[in-house]
Amino acid sequence: MSEENASQGADIAGLSISVLGGTGDQGRGLARRFALAGHTVHIGSRNAERAAKVAADLVEAESADIRVSGLTNTEAAAQGDIVIVAVPWDGHRELLVSLADRLAGKIVVDCVNPLGFDKKGPFALDVAEGSAAQQAAEVLPGSRVTAAFHHVSAVILLDPEVDQVDLDVLVLGEDREATDVVRALAERIPGVRGVFGGRLRNAHQVEAFTANLIAVNRRYKTHAGIRITGL
Ligand SMILES: NC(=O)c1ccc[n+]([C@@H]2O[C@H](COP(=O)([O-])OP(=O)(O)OC[C@H]3O[C@@H](n4cnc5c(N)ncnc54)[C@H](OP(=O)(O)O)[C@@H]3O)[C@@H](O)[C@H]2O)c1
Repeated sequence: MSEENASQGADIAGLSISVLGGTGDQGRGLARRFALAGHTVHIGSRNAERAAKVAADLVEAESADIRVSGLTNTEAAAQGDIVIVAVPWDGHRELLVSLADRLAGKIVVDCVNPLGFDKKGPFALDVAEGSAAQQAAEVLPGSRVTAAFHHVSAVILLDPEVDQVDLDVLVLGEDREATDVVRALAERIPGVRGVFGGRLRNAHQVEAFTANLIAVNRRYKTHAGIRITGL
């Protein structure tokens, strides 16, 4: 990747990160990696006690000094400089509608994959707005909505044996500065490269592709990721 395209330009070291639904596997995994990279991280939950317990467990599991606190989703939305949405698709719209005021002006990173599962395996759901990311943008008109981290396995993020995470994170959005910040955030995870993946109208394919990756994982008993060549 040329210097002009590299995301190192965005200096994000001092930014705090909140994770809505941070008590789940994906939220805990991202929280752990960003805390290890030196960010102050807020775990959000519908239940502050559950968030505090998850935060304390994350801190206790690491030998390094990390800063992780547990808050309600409402408090976490207000506290974080960057706010990651890591809730199930089912609760997505309702949660974001309730937090629209708190999230105004912030970079919001949606990693939600609207998927269904039946006896043939995983499949992409039809979403009226086009994608989870577009739904977020619709209900958060005052926020800088981006989409990223759809293909990152929570198992890998939480595995203390995995130092280098071997994948590219596609970052989508309308706002160049915001997507550059989120690319830089992705690159706080050792091994990861953040790659601009298009406007939000192209988020559906990225979210849907997770169904293919889950099918790969099931067949090959792995945690597959993607790499873009030619950069
Ligand atoms: N797991 C992965 O490897 C992975 C990878 C890439 C992307 N993702 C995406 O990341 C999101 C989270 O995945 P996950 O596996 O961590 O899911 P999860 O464990 O099922 O849910 C995450 C958290 O969301 C909260 N939650 C559950 N239902 C909710 C609702 N109706 N409204 C508001 N909050 C609710 C819960 O926290 P509280 O009960 O504490 O509020 C839960 O701990 C999903 O949209 C998924 O598509 C997951």
